[in-house]
Amino acid sequence: MNFHTRKWVKPEDLNPNGTLFGGSLLRWIDEEAAIYAISQLDNQRVVTKFMSEINFVSSARQGDVIELGMTATHFGRTSLTLRAEVRNKITRKSILTVEKMVFVNLDENGEPALHGRTQIRYADELFEAYRRGKVEAPTASEDEARLEELMH
Ligand SMILES: CC(C)(COP(=O)(O)OP(=O)(O)OC[C@H]1O[C@@H](n2cnc3c(N)ncnc32)[C@H](O)[C@@H]1OP(=O)(O)O)[C@@H](O)C(=O)NCCC(=O)NCCS
Repeated sequence: MNFHTRKWVKPEDLNPNGTLFGGSLLRWIDEEAAIYAISQLDNQRVVTKFMSEINFVSSARQGDVIELGMTATHFGRTSLTLRAEVRNKITRKSILTVEKMVFVNLDENGEPALHGRTQIRYADELFEAYRRGKVEAPTASEDEARLEELMH
């Protein structure tokens, strides 16, 4: 599983218990998963169709640095299924897991469309696609993030 994005838990992300609010975490996860699905399927028109049980394994506190991880577990005809995990960047302690998130690839009419993908594309393959002009070039900061990922 690749952990792409890091977040710093700030006061505005806390619940009344003083720990990370689940709603903030879910928003981050949904966004991260959508970006992952867009990259894997080469299509900006993907929507979240289904999320399985969410296990809030342990809490995070203000000042913690956490990281969001995704991996594709199944390529369907029009769908992509992912597994997600959030963990503490320093201790690696698991904070949340979602066993199954399903994204659907849509056409310009918003209807499910075949995506033709069967396996995970890694960063180097994505770079090659950018070079060939098949995929829109990333911004400088996205480039940095991908380069960093390649170095690990
Ligand atoms: C996404 C949407 C167009 C799919 O329509 P649909 O009629 O369910 O489409 P289908 O029945 O053809 O299913 C599409 C794919 O989703 C999968 N799917 C549908 N329901 C599912 C469920 N409950 N769990 C897991 N997968 C499911 C199907 O198996 C199919 O995958 P496959 O083609 O890889 O085999 C429609 O449900 C929709 O617009 N939902 C709202 C999405 C949304 O707004 N999300 C929140 C914001 S991003």
